[in-house]
Amino acid sequence: MAPVSPPFDRVAVIGAGFYGSTTALRLAEYDIFTTVVLTDVVAGKAEGLALDMNQSRPIEGFATTVVGATTGMDGSGYEVLTGAGVVIITAGLPRKPGMSRMDLLATNAAIVRGVAENVARYAPDAVVIVVSNPLDEMTALARLATGFPAHRVMGQAGMLDTARFSNNVAEALRVPVARVRTLTLGSHGDTMVPVPSACTVDGRPLADVATAEQVTELVERTRNGGAEIVALLKTGSAYYAPSAAAARMARAVAEDSGAVMPVCAWLTGEYGISGVYLGVEAELGAVGVRRVVERDLTPAERADLEAAAAAVRAKQSDVESM
Ligand code: LAC
Repeated sequence: MAPVSPPFDRVAVIGAGFYGSTTALRLAEYDIFTTVVLTDVVAGKAEGLALDMNQSRPIEGFATTVVGATTGMDGSGYEVLTGAGVVIITAGLPRKPGMSRMDLLATNAAIVRGVAENVARYAPDAVVIVVSNPLDEMTALARLATGFPAHRVMGQAGMLDTARFSNNVAEALRVPVARVRTLTLGSHGDTMVPVPSACTVDGRPLADVATAEQVTELVERTRNGGAEIVALLKTGSAYYAPSAAAARMARAVAEDSGAVMPVCAWLTGEYGISGVYLGVEAELGAVGVRRVVERDLTPAERADLEAAAAAVRAKQSDVESM
């Protein structure tokens, strides 16, 4: 039962869509939290899902209690966040086929701003993990709307994109995923920066075990990873791999583990980039982002990262007024 100590024994997930509910279940099944809170604006939805998850406890053998709550646009219901050490914001609409994540900007900005203000009201010391799209911009907005220090607000994207890259490599080269290491940086959008120079299979550079053409295809498929699933599902976007990524980040924070993960973090000069939320590797702990970890990039990868920063910076300033 609950090896993590307060306030990290209570973690909250805002939004009980597929992404949010799957994240809540993963967190509950870790069996390290006393309480997982799940909220939604649809009356009864979070409560119903929470009850269902709790009923799985005798079978799966975890002790965590899932608490569901309905929240209102007027801020009602958010008091359930009181005492939460980590809050994961999944609220917002997912993409439909043919949409880019950026098409969600205005709609999700209004939703994320409202949620973030209530997080600040009821969980003023929490570490916030944003997963709503467009990811980098919504993370920047959540920081603004909470007024939290930047190290306590981060976004989930790099863990997911990196996992997709690894899975793509494993499938293409027919090797177990455990033998593959990959990395993506940059934005969770068109300026995603898969980093082939950081990729290995059995410790050997990707470039030694795959042709240049294969690497290009793997990079492209990774960049397009979310859209590939949206096109297949036709309604909604991915949630199994995304929720695994968000839950692992929350766990690293709750356990103050120091794990280094690719996340969307605020840059203050790393890679020569400042004043923007961008996908980089960071060491996570109870404070949120302990530090951004820089690595050597090829000149081309570095240029791509700078382009990503410029693209996100432009959109980030748009959301400030939303
Ligand atoms: C994706 C969404 C969650 O990449 O952004 O699947």
